[in-house]
This record gives sequence, C-alpha cells and structure tokens, in this order.
Amino acid sequence: MRARIIGTGSCLPETVVTNDDLAKIMDTSDEWISSRTGIRERHLVKEETTAGMSAEAARRAMESAGVSAEEIDLLIVGTLSADHVTPSCACEVQARIGAVNAVAFDINAACAGFMFALNIANAYLQTGVYRTALILGAETLSKIMDWNDRSTCVLFGDGAGAAVVRAEEGTAGLLAFDQGSDGVKGGVLACRGRSNNNPLVETPKELSYVHMDGQEVYKFAVTAVPHSLQKTIQAAGLAVEDIDYFALHQANIRILQSVAKRLRVTEDKFPISLDHCGNISAASVPILLDEMNRKGMLKPGMKIALSGFGGGLTWASAVIEW
Ligand code: COA
Repeated sequence: MRARIIGTGSCLPETVVTNDDLAKIMDTSDEWISSRTGIRERHLVKEETTAGMSAEAARRAMESAGVSAEEIDLLIVGTLSADHVTPSCACEVQARIGAVNAVAFDINAACAGFMFALNIANAYLQTGVYRTALILGAETLSKIMDWNDRSTCVLFGDGAGAAVVRAEEGTAGLLAFDQGSDGVKGGVLACRGRSNNNPLVETPKELSYVHMDGQEVYKFAVTAVPHSLQKTIQAAGLAVEDIDYFALHQANIRILQSVAKRLRVTEDKFPISLDHCGNISAASVPILLDEMNRKGMLKPGMKIALSGFGGGLTWASAVIEW
C-alpha cells in the first residue's frame, strides 16, 4: 500500500505585481531582484483569503483526482498565515468545500509545511486509519511582510496549492521520506509579535512581521537540502541519476542552482515557478507540482524528488513514483 498523489490543484490571487511595480513604491529594481533571486513577479491578494484560495485549489485538485468532497477523510493545511488563529484554515476549507467526513487541522512547518502534511498523511494512510487525504500548502504572506524592509518583502507572494493523496496498491506513490528541524537556528527566519496582555503581565506590543537573515537562510538551504535529498533518494533504493525531476521549494533560483550543482544534476531537471510566483512558503511545492502536472510533464513511472525548507528551521524531502 502506497500513499499516491492522484490529483493536484492550485490557485493564485488575480493581481500580479512585477518587480517594476515594486520599484515604484520602494528603493529597488527589477535588475536587483531578478539577478539575485530569479523572481520577476508575484501575485498578491486584494479580496482573496488564505481559506478562499485553499478551497479553490482543493476543488481543482479533487476535480483532477475525480474524487468528491465526501470521500475526503483527512484534510491538512500547511500554513503560517491562516486567516484566523481559530478556526483553522483546514476547518474553514472543510466547510467551504463540504468535506463533511474529514478530520481537518492545520500544521505550521513554514516553507516545509506541505511536505510535513504529505508525511503526516502518509503515516495515516499507511496505517489504514484514513484512505483519502486532501493536503494543502496555502499562504497570504503579504499580510506578514514589513513593506519597509526591501530585503525581504520583494521575495514573497501569495497563493495556495493542493493534492489529493490516496492509499493504493501498486508501485506508484511515496517511496521514501526525510524530515527534520533545528529550533536552535529558528531566529534566522522568524515572525514574532504575539505579545501578552493578561492581567498579570503586559509585554511590549511587537509588530508581527517576517524578519530574515538572508545569508544565514541561504547557507542553511544549500547545505540541508542536498543532504536531505541524497538521504531520501538512497532510502528509496535509487541513485540521483534516476530522478526525473526535482520539484523543490521555490525560494531563490540561486539556491536551486547550488543544489543542482552539489547533486551533480543539470538545472533542466529543476522546474521553476518562482519567476512568476515568488516564494509562497508552504504553497510553493504543491503549486509547482500542479503546474508540472497540468503541463503534462509528469508521466506514470517517473521518479520525482520533492523538498521543502524554511522557517523553524524545518526541512523535508520525499521521493515519489508518479
Ligand atoms: N533592492 C535593492 N537593493 C537591496 C534590496 C532590494 N530589494 N534588498 C537589499 N538590498 C541591498 C542591501 O541594502 C545591501 O546594500 P549595501 O551593500 O549598500 O548594504 C545590498 O543590497 C546587499 O544586501 P545583502 O542582504 O547582502 O544581499 P544578498 O546578496 O545576501 O542577497 C538575498 C539577499 C535575500 C537575495 C539572499 O541573501 C538570499 O537569497 N537569501 C535566501 C533567502 C531565502 O530564500 N529565504 C527564504 C527561504 S524559505
């Protein structure tokens, strides 16, 4: 029995903001952003919400899988930017799509959130607790950006991606997994600002914005990701050359190039969406996977390596047979 992705979907906000648009409101340029990151534009919300985009991505994934909302028995959203503290984004999606038989909850593993959701779903499906899971990565990062911090806000975008995962007999599905976290280094990519104002204590009010030490995050990514991928590929009984595509979290083109170099793989095996999406944290991997799926790039029997990495610090990789 394997946990197999049988359908994908995604949803991006309508409004596109180019690097030139950003250059009109802050001291930056298309040249600076695109040469250092590969990002040319991103989608930002106006009316859209994390739950609304999630529900749309979920509907598209269910349609592509040929699965009805009633068949979903597990619904997990990886997000750090849900619309509310409670109810969770997953419970809101459940209500919006009518997944009345599902148990629904969010997890926060930052940019590795979708990958953590995939692994949790895999554990439930492998043990027979549930049969059909809907997993998502969804973010409205624009609401937690400091739009005065040009070194960080230009990197991120909004959107949602989804996959339907089902326990199936056969060789296709999730072959191996690796995940990890390093809380000691959590400060290099953080969004703080939940002050306490109970009757006993009043902590100073902090603004809740993402703060990032870009160079430390870069060093972490180019070390942890190749190591995790190698470990996962080996655990799947495969060699790096056997992998058809590396569908990685879309943080920065330079990170992807460095991972490709360290694994001695040509860059054409690393599809990208960051040029038109920017970094959408937990949503990056499922949006990329959906784009690949809809372009017909994924054929039965192909081996795909997935990896997410980011705040926490957290990282997770998987090798799947499509
Ligand atoms: N436009 C123009 N100039 C900018 C800028 C912007 N948007 N942001 C920063 N700069 C300036 C800085 O002020 C600095 O100027 P100075 O030399 O006069 O002080 C200069 O550019 C270099 O800044 P620095 O932060 O050293 O740039 P960098 O080469 O490290 O690149 C990142 C910055 C963010 C692109 C890079 O560190 C990175 O990609 N890190 C990984 C981040 C990431 O992927 N995070 C998410 C992981 S999930």
